[in-house]
Amino acid sequence: EPLRKPLVPVKGIPLIKYFAETMEQLQNFTAWPDDVLISTYPKSGTTWMSEIMDMIYQGGKLDKCGRAPVYARIPFLEFSCPGVPPGLETLKETPAPRIIKTHLPLSLLPQSLLDQKIKVIYVARNAKDVVVSYYNFYKMAKLHPDPGTWESFLENFMDGKVSYGSWYQHVKEWWELRRTHPVLYLFYEDMKENPKREIKKILEFLGRSLPEETVDLIVHHTSFKKMKENPMANYTTIPTEVMDHTISPFMRKGTIGDWKNTFTVAQSEHFDAHYAKIMTGCDFTFRCQI
Ligand code: PPS
Repeated sequence: EPLRKPLVPVKGIPLIKYFAETMEQLQNFTAWPDDVLISTYPKSGTTWMSEIMDMIYQGGKLDKCGRAPVYARIPFLEFSCPGVPPGLETLKETPAPRIIKTHLPLSLLPQSLLDQKIKVIYVARNAKDVVVSYYNFYKMAKLHPDPGTWESFLENFMDGKVSYGSWYQHVKEWWELRRTHPVLYLFYEDMKENPKREIKKILEFLGRSLPEETVDLIVHHTSFKKMKENPMANYTTIPTEVMDHTISPFMRKGTIGDWKNTFTVAQSEHFDAHYAKIMTGCDFTFRCQI
């Protein structure tokens, strides 16, 4: 049976069918007080942040970070796929303190994470780079529906008709959450510019400290080049039926501004006009707006 299925809306948010089917059960998820959540809209630097966080938790011990693929070390909360243990199962087997990955919008997030004031590290990335990365990911990651043409995918993204819904709503609502909840809101572009500075922000947020040389080691080990060649970080351990890296590798480019190679000038102008309209009244100067 082919994996590609149409997205299924849950409370108006289109989701991968198998993920949608776990949403009811997911609401019973109980957070532990020392859980930390990595929250992102897809393709915004989740895997990068996951590797950084595990390195921090393991005190920079490379052998420990190589113990399992990144998706087993940092369980993916809402994940579900036939024949693979779902996120909720992996979480039960993960000892505290857990680092948990999610892409869920707030409307679908298990209440326990909010009630228990679980620390959140949010990563946002420039929308144009996200949509290009997402288009290539849809092609290689076969739990998604067929993305169609680039042009139609771009329209769907702007309309929030892609997996996890609107990027615009996502970055805004998690930004707003900072008022009432411990959220460290970071940007992919800042991480590219100065990863060491951003890792130090994370350490401060977590109330942890590491020797300077360990921080340098983390920067080195989590560079795009290192992660691309690391089978425990690059998703090549996933069966080809689910992710086909020959179509587009998971570790694709890892750069800022690659959107320029895909957007036409007209598409970029159209996108900017829509962006300005939909993002008005946002009280942040959006770091990743180029
Ligand atoms: S997912 O599937 O939503 O969890 O994907 P996610 O990890 O959020 O995003 C994948 C993109 O992040 C790039 N990437 C990196 N960039 C810089 N440095 C490091 N270490 C790194 N690791 C992953 C990855 O290449 C995807 O972006 P694109 O633009 O497609 O290359």
